[in-house]
Amino acid sequence: MDHVPMSAEQPAIILSGIEKWYGTRDRPVHALSPTDLSVAEGEFVVLLGPSGCGKTTLLRMVGGLIAPTSGRLTVEGQLLWQGEQRRPEAVSELGMVFQDANLFPWLSIEDNIALPLELKGMARTERRAKAHELCRLVGIGGFERRWPRELSGGMRQRAAIARALSYDPKILLMDEPFGALDAMTRDAMNLELQRIWMDTGKTIILVTHSISEAVFLADRIVLLSPRPGKIDTIVHVPIPRPRRSEVQSTRAFQDIALALRQRLAAIS
Ligand SMILES: Nc1ncnc2c1ncn2[C@@H]1O[C@H](COP(=O)(O)OP(=O)(O)OP(=O)(O)O)[C@@H](O)[C@H]1O
Ligand SMILES: [Mg+2]
Repeated sequence: MDHVPMSAEQPAIILSGIEKWYGTRDRPVHALSPTDLSVAEGEFVVLLGPSGCGKTTLLRMVGGLIAPTSGRLTVEGQLLWQGEQRRPEAVSELGMVFQDANLFPWLSIEDNIALPLELKGMARTERRAKAHELCRLVGIGGFERRWPRELSGGMRQRAAIARALSYDPKILLMDEPFGALDAMTRDAMNLELQRIWMDTGKTIILVTHSISEAVFLADRIVLLSPRPGKIDTIVHVPIPRPRRSEVQSTRAFQDIALALRQRLAAIS
């Protein structure tokens, strides 16, 4: 049975025994051991772990970019992978943001953001109006007609988030989206992302190397350990929202961050 009927309690994403082996010429790499994880509708989950523990692998399988070797993955009640085949109904609920904004340099910001809508056949005036609305949402209102090269790194990441939101997917998958930004811009982007998430009610899975980014953003932090990748610990972050930057100096925040730092050191 492929289609599970929708219900209020149905998780947005369910991984059951999801595993990944990469086939290389000399020897296969076991990137992720069989993994179970459910992400609730509207939840903010952060994947954290040492380099090479399989965070990107997990995210790319959920994003429909690489097929799991085995296991079952459902997105909004739809089976995403049928063997190596990706099922388009499930992919339409997913938006992805990577470490580099990956904007097309020959398109204006608004045309970059509206590109997924153009591919869907939306008329030009309608998609431009949508692009303008999204620019305002992500805080780059007024920059619609600029070229990507005229924007700062943080602004380009905002545009990439707007593009991922353009076709209104229920789920946003983000792989180190702020990894290339300086610390101050990154703090500002974390605040913005929390606001966008609270405004839109999206389900988010975000990958990061930053413990403070993880604690600041997450409802739940999934800590992965390497060789082969597997879930080591799941940490709930019960700090109320909206969280302000100052929350980072509170006892509650620092206790969670310290526990994560110690665990990360133990498994790295
Ligand atoms: N296309 C590939 N072919 C072969 N092995 C791969 C491939 N992609 C990733 N791997 C291996 O799979 C493991 C997990 O890689 P992955 O990129 O998922 O880790 P990661 O947690 O995202 O690391 P980082 O924090 O450095 O981004 C690593 O051992 C990596 O070398
Ligand atoms: Mg990675």
